[in-house]
Amino acid sequence: MAEKEALTTKTADELVAEQTSTPLEKMEEPEPSEGKWEPRIVAFVCNWCTYLGMDLAGTSRMKYQPNVRVIKLPCSARIDPLFVIKAFENGADGVLVSGCHPGDCHYNTGNYHARRRWTVFRELFSFLGLDLQRLQFSWVSAAEGVKWVKVINEVTDKVRELGPNTDYHNLSR
Ligand code: FES
Repeated sequence: MAEKEALTTKTADELVAEQTSTPLEKMEEPEPSEGKWEPRIVAFVCNWCTYLGMDLAGTSRMKYQPNVRVIKLPCSARIDPLFVIKAFENGADGVLVSGCHPGDCHYNTGNYHARRRWTVFRELFSFLGLDLQRLQFSWVSAAEGVKWVKVINEVTDKVRELGPNTDYHNLSR
C-alpha cells in the first residue's frame, strides 16, 4: 500500500531519473563557440551496444562535438515517449535514441520493440506539432566507435542548422 502511494506521488522527472541511469535535470547551455548558440542533444543509448561503442570512441581518443548528454538504458526497448518529452521540456534541442543493430539485441528482440515504438513516437510528436528532424534513431554496435562519432556529429550539425527548440516551449505556453 505504502509502495502504491509512493508511486502516485512521484513526479515524471523522478520516474525518468529512476528508470534511466542518469537523472534528466535541466540542461545547462553548452559553452557557446565563438559566441554562437550551441545545441543541446540528449542521447538515450542501450547499455550493451551503443554505450560500448561510445566508450570505444572515448578510449580510442576520437573527437566529436561535445553537445551530447548520454543517458544509458538497459536496452533501446526501454525508451518511453515520456523520456523524450521530458528531455525536450528540460531544454534539449534534439534527441537521439540508439541501440544494437537488428538481430544483435542483448535481449533478442528489444530493438524490434524500440523500432515499433519509434513509429508511434513519430506520429505522436508530429501530432503535437514538433519538428521530427529533432528526433533521430540509430543503430551503433560496441565495435562502432567511428559510427558513434559520425552519428553525433551529424545529429549535432542538423540540430544546429534547425536552431533552438522553441516549438516545444511555444506549445506549453
Ligand atoms: Fe541494445 Fe537491446 S540491448 S538494443
